[in-house]
Amino acid sequence: MNRNELLKLKDGVHKYSDEKNRENLSLFESIIGYDDIKKIFKMSLISDNAVHILLVGPPASAKTLFMLEFLKLERSYFTLGSHSTKAGMMDYLFDYRPRYLLIDEIEHMPYKDQTSLLSIMETGILTETKSQKTRSTQLKTWIFATCNNEQKLLSPLLSRFIIFHLKPYNRYKFIEVSNGILVKNDIPLDIANEISHIVWHKLKSRDIRDCIKISRLAKSIEDVEWIAKTLIQYRKNK
Ligand SMILES: Nc1ncnc2c1ncn2[C@@H]1O[C@H](COP(=O)(O)OP(=O)(O)O)[C@@H](O)[C@H]1O
Ligand SMILES: [Mg+2]
Repeated sequence: MNRNELLKLKDGVHKYSDEKNRENLSLFESIIGYDDIKKIFKMSLISDNAVHILLVGPPASAKTLFMLEFLKLERSYFTLGSHSTKAGMMDYLFDYRPRYLLIDEIEHMPYKDQTSLLSIMETGILTETKSQKTRSTQLKTWIFATCNNEQKLLSPLLSRFIIFHLKPYNRYKFIEVSNGILVKNDIPLDIANEISHIVWHKLKSRDIRDCIKISRLAKSIEDVEWIAKTLIQYRKNK
C-alpha cells in the first residue's frame, strides 16, 4: 500500500469514526420534532469547513434549546447577544479558540461585535483593535445563532449564515410538542392533554411555556380547568 492510499484510508477511517461519534452523541434529545433541522446541524458538525447556521423564529419555538444542546460539544462557548461585550466574548475567542460559538438572540449584539463576526465567518480571521493595539489570530469556528427578528442584523452578517425560519406551531404541532414535554416531565397524559388543549383553545395562547407553567400547579384535570378559568378572569384587559 503506498503512502497516498494509506493516507486516504486513514482519512476515511477518521471521518467515519468522527461521523459515528457525532451520531452517537445524544444531541437534541430535549427537542421534539424539527428532524430536518437536526439533520442539517449534524451534517454541519461533520463538515470539514465551518458552517454557520441561524435560527429565526417566534418565542418558544425551541431556539434557545438548540443552542443549549450544542453546549454538549467540546470546545463550545455560549453567549447572549446582549452580553457579548460584557461577557468578554472577544477575549474568550482569543484565549480559548472555541470550535463552536453559540449566540442566543444575536439581534441584540452590538454592531461592533457583529462586525468582528463577519471576518471570522468568512476567513476565520479574528482581529481586535483596542487602545491603538491590534491583535489578530486565525480560528476555525462554527457559529450557531438565534434571533427573533433578523431585521436588526447587518445584512453582510445574514448572508454568511444558512438561515432557517421556524414557523409558529399549528394546533396539531403545538399539542404534540406540549404533550411531549409534559409527559417527559412526568405529568400523566390525560392531564397533559387537557393542559395543551385548554392553553390553545381557551387561553388562546401560542406559547408552550404557558403549558409548562400550568403543569407545575395542576394535580388533576379539575385543577387545570380551574387554573385556566382563574387566569382568564385576571387577564389584562385588551
Ligand atoms: N420543539 C420543542 N421541543 C421541546 N421543547 C420545546 C419545543 N418547543 C418549545 N419548547 C419548550 O418551550 C420553552 C421555550 O423554548 P425556548 O428554546 O426557550 O424557545 P425560544 O428560545 O425559541 O424562545 C422551553 O421550555 C421548551 O421546553
Ligand atoms: Mg430564546
